[in-house]
Amino acid sequence: MTKNVQWWQQEVGYQIYPASFKDSNQDGIGDINGIREKLSYLKELGIGFIWINPIYSSPFVDNGYDISDYQEILAKFGTMAEFDLLLTEAHQMGIRVIMDLVINHTSDQHKWFIESKKSVDNPFREYYLWADSTAESAPNEWQSIFGGSAWTRDEETDQSYLHVFAKEQPDLNWENPKVREELFTMIRWWLEKGIDGFRLDAISHIKKEDYAIPATANPFSPFQNVAGIGEYLTELKTIFDEYDIMTVGEASGVSAAEGPQWVGKAGYFDMIFEFDHISLWNHEEQGVLDVVKLKQALTEWQNSLAGKGWNALYMENHDVPRSVSAFGDDENYWLESAKALGMMYFFLQGTPFIYQGQEIGMTNMAFESIEQVDALDSRKLYQRLLQEGHTPAESLAIIRSTTRDNSRTPMQWTNEKFAGFSSEKPWLVVNPNKDIINVKAQSKEPNSLLSFYKKMIQLRKQHTALVTGQFKEYLPQHKQLFIYERAEASEQFLIMVNLTAENAAFDLTTEKLAEDWSVVLTNQLDEHRFDFIGEFAPYEARMYQRKSF
Ligand code: GLC
Ligand code: CA
Repeated sequence: MTKNVQWWQQEVGYQIYPASFKDSNQDGIGDINGIREKLSYLKELGIGFIWINPIYSSPFVDNGYDISDYQEILAKFGTMAEFDLLLTEAHQMGIRVIMDLVINHTSDQHKWFIESKKSVDNPFREYYLWADSTAESAPNEWQSIFGGSAWTRDEETDQSYLHVFAKEQPDLNWENPKVREELFTMIRWWLEKGIDGFRLDAISHIKKEDYAIPATANPFSPFQNVAGIGEYLTELKTIFDEYDIMTVGEASGVSAAEGPQWVGKAGYFDMIFEFDHISLWNHEEQGVLDVVKLKQALTEWQNSLAGKGWNALYMENHDVPRSVSAFGDDENYWLESAKALGMMYFFLQGTPFIYQGQEIGMTNMAFESIEQVDALDSRKLYQRLLQEGHTPAESLAIIRSTTRDNSRTPMQWTNEKFAGFSSEKPWLVVNPNKDIINVKAQSKEPNSLLSFYKKMIQLRKQHTALVTGQFKEYLPQHKQLFIYERAEASEQFLIMVNLTAENAAFDLTTEKLAEDWSVVLTNQLDEHRFDFIGEFAPYEARMYQRKSF
């Protein structure tokens, strides 16, 4: 690899949702030892680092994003000793470990909040955001991201506390220097353990507007990327800079234009997860994918960070439905569309993240009733839909296409009863398509999605043009095809992907594009030589290579 390229730029990341990855002790819940068992699988796939969703002590109201002790491991996930083993073993295999850092809020069971709630003059009162309220009215109209008022009242002390998410997730008061000091001490403690970085949860929410300021058209504007947030982020960065680690911030509300400020040379983080392309998924009713909009969202980030910063590339995570169901076609073109979507994002400029199960094309789950759904935001939404007059069937249909539990069903390792995830009934229902979609079936099959992902990872490792090469888009207004080039002096790659279930004709003769391309990767069976004029089959995806001498 070229000099000056950081390890986290060269490697491919893999996100592990521990509760659903692998259950080692047959209690139906994935755990740390389960991750240890599967390290060799990740190694073989070609993964350079894993990001593990929260495994800290937690009442688990929001699946671990409500932390009651930052320096303890939740018993159902294992012990700190087991975590230490995981870290050592991963490092021995050349896999780095990124932890989730949830510092916008804690659990209401965290000792700080338990103290804080006791009285208005408790020393921990100022650790959270309390304001006067009456039984009739909250301090203001702000709405929480999970629905309902962002305030919950405490009768005893006649005040309410702010929570951007659930009421069991009170927001920390970042203006209080003591809070920052406590958090920074905890952060150093984890870094001293030798972990390789953090994914910073909900980090664009840590600064709040004055309570007198109402929301704009965006209901979350009073606590999303609020002016002045940079002061806190800079303090965090000062700590991160002392270690050879990678940081990736979850940054809703940060625009591509602001990207360089967040992840540029002097930016707060190495990368951020932007929300522009992923929010095209969040239609309550399943709409038709607007390919041009999707391309624009991705291209805008490519261009705004070109030469200035680095993108985090992703199509899935634990908060959104499965990409092959939402963006592809999991009925008629399951394999083709999963490969097409994979190729489309994997070779953009940035570090690709794979979410567990994405590499085998796991799909959304046809939940049979709301009782099968665990995610609290989805349960709340279901109630709201009923109140608004939707029938139970209509409401369930909306939940099915939007719930984040779609991506949280157990990882499908085999076609066994519980998909080889556990021998006991898992905490969340197993998708019945584990009979066809599973790791075991795909690992020996050269045309499988899993083999395709392995090839993509190898290609990215072998060619610097795919890491540091310049990005250039062709035919940006094409309504079906995403066509882009990654180029450096000696080598160029051309990626052409049809993102629709229809044939797609194209004419590249007007574009300034080189000749002599040869296919390196495709989801089709034939060779299909490069041509300036042609037609792609539904979800056809081709990657061409060209060498300059
Ligand atoms: C982030 C997490 C999500 C969680 C929320 C609150 O968006 O990804 O899973 O519910 O923060 O912590
Ligand atoms: Ca377990």
